[in-house]
Amino acid sequence: MLFESFEIKSLELRNRIVMAPMCQYSSNEKGEIKPWHLVHYTSRAIGGVGLIMLEATAVSPYGRISKNDLGIWSDEHVDGLKELTSLIHENGAKISIQLAHAGRKSKITSTSVAPSSEAFNSDYGIPKQLEEQDIREILSSFQHAARRAFLSGFDAVEIHAAHGYLINEFLSPLANHRKDSYGGSLANRTKFLREVIGAVKKEWPEDRPLFMRVSSKDYAKGGNDVSDMIQIVELLKKSVDVIDVSTGGVVDVPKTAVYPGYQLEDAFKIRNECSISTIGGGGITTADMAEYALQSNSCDLVYLGKELLRNPYWPLKSAFEMSVELPWPFQYKRGKYEAKWRSV
Ligand SMILES: Cc1cc2nc3c(=O)[nH]c(=O)nc-3n(C[C@H](O)[C@H](O)[C@H](O)COP(=O)(O)O)c2cc1C
Repeated sequence: MLFESFEIKSLELRNRIVMAPMCQYSSNEKGEIKPWHLVHYTSRAIGGVGLIMLEATAVSPYGRISKNDLGIWSDEHVDGLKELTSLIHENGAKISIQLAHAGRKSKITSTSVAPSSEAFNSDYGIPKQLEEQDIREILSSFQHAARRAFLSGFDAVEIHAAHGYLINEFLSPLANHRKDSYGGSLANRTKFLREVIGAVKKEWPEDRPLFMRVSSKDYAKGGNDVSDMIQIVELLKKSVDVIDVSTGGVVDVPKTAVYPGYQLEDAFKIRNECSISTIGGGGITTADMAEYALQSNSCDLVYLGKELLRNPYWPLKSAFEMSVELPWPFQYKRGKYEAKWRSV
């Protein structure tokens, strides 16, 4: 299945392999695309990835995790991002952008923002609790970011609602202690995310897919677990097309067990209980493991992070191992016929 195509709305992928979003810490103060990004992402398109998920890209300067993150808070970002999407398309892959706001995990200023005024841990400042007016401004940032994502030629948008960043802080009872309509019940805690989706959809065309990355569990007592995430996805599933399943990050605790495919069980539950497409992954390094993720109905697409940092040509290599005939870039054909990957 790994090398079967996949279609959702207007997006057609040549295979089921997704490059997971991974911050490169290689931009500048202005959040601009640099040669590193052009080379790094294009290499994975040449290597055969179906969908590249661009790293967390900040919708506002204070929404950056760190000062070298990419940004999409200004119209000036469009030209650089457009150059990147063109290169990816020229090399047969598709590209989505991950729209992000770091919330209380921003190290940009000493006054980050969050649903409640509580620091992530002692390495981070105490955030300012967001007022209604601040929330309106952040929603407007997401809306404009979606407009720029369209102008830049992205095939999909992913809302980053995972890993303890701003949206995830609203979703989790461990970071959201608000007494207003944004806090308390599970439905209230999803209000901010529902508004973010609404803001993005004002600009993002209906025929292009909208992805959402979630942390299916907080790994801590009193936090969200996959059963809560299933309820959250149920509330939102009419407005999003694909759930990208990750875990953790809201509170400063280690993941309890990390083994190859450790998040697939939650991807399976969300996919099958909510009847929605998922991207699953975590610790996947081999073609067999990626194939298992799909065959076990855990997900429709598989993401690989660190393995693609190690080997940009992982899809070409995996196709070879699975005896799937994949077209290689013509420039690399002489390498293909002498490949001995199977016996490595
Ligand atoms: C260097 C690095 C940067 C990352 N940056 C992001 C990010 O920008 N957005 C995100 O959602 N996850 C981020 N992640 C998490 C990955 O997308 C992925 O979920 C994680 O690495 C697990 O997959 P893997 O075991 O295949 O690497 C990052 C991971 C790494 C290693």
